[in-house]
Amino acid sequence: MDRIRIVGGNKLNGTIPISGAKNAALPLMIASLLTDETLILDNVPRLADVAQLQRILGNHGLDIMSKGKRPGDHEYQGQTLHISAANIIDTTAPYELVSKMRASFWVIAPLLARMKEARVSLPGGCAIGTRPVDLLIMALEKLGAELQIDGGYVIAKAPGGLVGAEIDFPKVTVSGTHVALMAATLARGTTAINNAACEPEIVDVADCLNKMGAKISGAGTPRIVIEGVSKLHGARHTVLPDRIEAGTYAMAVAMTGGDVQLAGARPELLQSALDVLTEAGATITPNNEGIRVTRNGAGISPVKVTTAPFPGFPTDLQAQLMALMACAKGSSHITETIFENRFMHVQELARFGARISLDGETAIIDGIAKLRGAPVMATDLRASVSLVIAGLAAEGETMVNRIYHLDRGFERLEEKLSACGATIERISG
Ligand code: EPZ
Repeated sequence: MDRIRIVGGNKLNGTIPISGAKNAALPLMIASLLTDETLILDNVPRLADVAQLQRILGNHGLDIMSKGKRPGDHEYQGQTLHISAANIIDTTAPYELVSKMRASFWVIAPLLARMKEARVSLPGGCAIGTRPVDLLIMALEKLGAELQIDGGYVIAKAPGGLVGAEIDFPKVTVSGTHVALMAATLARGTTAINNAACEPEIVDVADCLNKMGAKISGAGTPRIVIEGVSKLHGARHTVLPDRIEAGTYAMAVAMTGGDVQLAGARPELLQSALDVLTEAGATITPNNEGIRVTRNGAGISPVKVTTAPFPGFPTDLQAQLMALMACAKGSSHITETIFENRFMHVQELARFGARISLDGETAIIDGIAKLRGAPVMATDLRASVSLVIAGLAAEGETMVNRIYHLDRGFERLEEKLSACGATIERISG
C-alpha cells in the first residue's frame, strides 16, 4: 500500500492549480442517467472516486469515454468525460459497488425518474458517522415512489412515473437535495424543495440539469422549484473548482508560511473559510487568476469556529483547520455540527504532539510552538489531508499511511505541494 513521506519545515511558495470539485463531479456524472443523449463533462478531476463511479455507471450499461487535455488548456483543467446512458441495461446498484462509495446510492433518483424502477444497496456505515439515507427515501416517497427495503437493498418503483410534490427537509442535506433535484426534473408537475442545501455543488448540478432541458429555479437558495419535463437531452458542462481543495491548500500555506497562488480557485465558494484564515493571521488576496494566500512572520492566532451548511464553515475543512490550530498562539474551539463522529483525526494529530481535548461536539485545541513528525494514518479523506498539513509544518519526518483515502479526493497532491517547495514523496508498495 502506498505511503506519503514528508519532511516538514519548508515554506510553500508558488502556484497550486485547483482541480474540478469531486463533490460536483460525482452527482454530475450520476445525472447523465437522466438522458439517453450524451452528457459531456469538462474539468473532471482524476480521482479514485471518479474512477469508482465510472465502474458503477458502467454496471448500469453506460458508455464512458474519457479525453485528456486539449491544446491550449490550462494545466489545472482535468479530463473530459463523454457519458452516454443510451441503453440502461441494469437498474440494480449492487452492494459490492455502493459500499465502496456512498454517493453512488444517489443513482436511485435518476434510475427511478427515467426507468421507473431501481434496486440500490443501502450504503452502510462510514468512518465519519452513521450517515443515514432516511431523508432521501422520504423525498422519493413524496414524489410518489413506492419504496421497500429487502435484503439490504432499497427497492423503488414508480410505475406511473414520479409526480411533483412539496418536499420539506427537516435538516439541510446535500445528498437529499441532490436526489430530490434529480428525481423531480422528470416528474409530472411542479416540485418545491424547502430547506434545500445551498452548497455550490448543488448550484453546479442544477446549472447542468438546466442545460439538459430541466426547468429549475432557486438553486443556491433554501427553496428550489422544479417544473418537471418529459425528457432531458445531452449537454456540455464544466465542473466548478474544488472549494475544499482550495481551502485545504490555503490552510497548508497558513500553517507553513509562504506565498501561494491558488490558480482557478473562486473566493465566493469558500468565503467563510477565508474569513477564518484571515482571523488566524493569513493574508488572503482574491485576484483575476484565483486566490493568493500568504503568511509571513506573524504567528497563527487561535479561532472559534462551528461547522455549518453553506455558506457556513464547511465540515470538509474542519480537520484541516484543527491541524492549523495545533500551532496557534492560544486556545481554539472547533465545534462539529454536521457529522457526529468526525473527530477521528484528533488521536492522530496527537501523535505530532498536538494538544486537543474533546468535549462533546467541540474540540479544544491548545496551540504549541512546534509539531514533531510521526508515522500516522487516517480513516477518511479530509482527516488524511489534515495529517499531511501537520506533517508539512512539523519538525522532522512524517509518514502518512493508508493514503488511498487521499487519492479518493486530492488530485496529484504530492506533485502540487512539491512544486511549491514541500519535501513530500509517494512511496509505492
Ligand atoms: C456531502 O455528503 C458531501 N459528499 C460530504 O463530503 C460533505 O461532508 C457533506 O455533504 C456535508 O457538506 C458528497 O458531496 C459526495 P448530507 P452528504 O446529506 O450529502 C444527515 C467529503 O469528504 N442526514 O448533507 O452525504 C447526515 O447524517 C465528504 O468529500 C440524515 O440524517 O451529506 C449528516 O449528519 C464527506 N439523513 C447531515 O444530514 C439523510 O437521509 C448532512 O448530510 C441524509 C443526511
